[in-house]
Amino acid sequence: MPKYGFNTKAIHAGNTSFQPDSMSTPIYQSVAYPYLDAKEAAAIFTGEKPGYTYGRWDNPTVEVFEKRMAALENTEAAIAAASGMSAIFLLTHHLVAAGDNVVSSNRVYGGTFGLFNVGLPKMGASVNWVTNPESIDAWAAAITPRTKFLFVETPSNPSLFIADIPALAALAKSKKIPLVVDNTITTPALQQPILLGADIVVHSTTKYICGNATALGGIVCGPQELINGIRQNGIRYLGPAMAPFNAWLNLNGLETLALRMDRHCHNAMVVATFLEKHPKVNFVNYPGLESNPYHHLIKPQMKGCSSLMSFELKGAYEQATRFIDSLAIITHATHLGTAKSIVTHPASTTHSAMGEVEMRKAGISPSLIRFSIGIEDENDLINDLSQAFDAIDKEVKVKDDLSANTFPQAY
Ligand SMILES: Cc1ncc(COP(=O)(O)O)c(C=O)c1O
Repeated sequence: MPKYGFNTKAIHAGNTSFQPDSMSTPIYQSVAYPYLDAKEAAAIFTGEKPGYTYGRWDNPTVEVFEKRMAALENTEAAIAAASGMSAIFLLTHHLVAAGDNVVSSNRVYGGTFGLFNVGLPKMGASVNWVTNPESIDAWAAAITPRTKFLFVETPSNPSLFIADIPALAALAKSKKIPLVVDNTITTPALQQPILLGADIVVHSTTKYICGNATALGGIVCGPQELINGIRQNGIRYLGPAMAPFNAWLNLNGLETLALRMDRHCHNAMVVATFLEKHPKVNFVNYPGLESNPYHHLIKPQMKGCSSLMSFELKGAYEQATRFIDSLAIITHATHLGTAKSIVTHPASTTHSAMGEVEMRKAGISPSLIRFSIGIEDENDLINDLSQAFDAIDKEVKVKDDLSANTFPQAY
């Protein structure tokens, strides 16, 4: 639907004429699709006749979601998966064989880090991490003759690194390998990597696309040949198909995506500005702030910075946990990208298994808080944060020098 705008496509693209029609895409809660006769079954299997075969490979509801995502990400096709991680795994499994290599930014979601670090060696393949992904020369130096793709997550979770997509795309083209962009945090409402030169886009649709923490999902958007290959030789044998109900929930999310992203961006800017000025905050990582080192990359490639940020409290572990426990509206959970504002304390939850030394290397201090700003009323968010800042002093006896930012004994 090239002639239509983003919001029209987010509501209409990929619609198939179901009979009888319905205002919302029907949920085909079925794993198989009875054939008229044996001749029709054979023709569907050879591809001579369009039709559906088995729920692990195709489903009419999931197909609408795939077509809509392809339209929004400007690709020929897309294949949905059970989760973001299974989408990234399906793509990796399809493109990489024993002896091959992947070059990736090291600022990626922990699951992706594990897949490349542990999963690739299990496949007899390897990863070359780019530890200073701001440098295009560092990317170029990491590429080997067996490198099958470049992988970048931008903005990255949780460090908020922003890549220069056109520069990376030019490098990938010069080496004749695809550039894969994880576009989970911005979504196509704010950033369209294919228009910036990337070749393949992946998502955890679990986050902003679904938008209310109700359904896991993932998707790979790319050229038809690639998507056909993953369908024929990946999802068919490996099995992580998206459930029809989850496709329906994700389709509902897409209808309001751009509206929600605008509000996420607005609220995030208000909150980041408030936090940056707050006397109890050391620093805020949010690319929308002018003080952010990646700020100059925003305008050329993004319509907005989305709503993921992190900030460090002046204090230590106890101050951070007390702050989180004092929040009233803002939810404490391991998630991001939903209507509800969510805080996560990496040192006590998502990253605690790393231990203090590795956490420090990854820039995770005991008082670092990850924050996904929702779409509530901005004043209520500021008031909630203010009372939680006040509660730190009231309830916590500060034993140590605050500037030490120490981990508790358990670490
Ligand atoms: C940027 C990014 N990519 C991929 C994933 C994995 O997605 P899922 O949880 O849907 O498997 C996540 C999850 O947090 C993420 O933040």
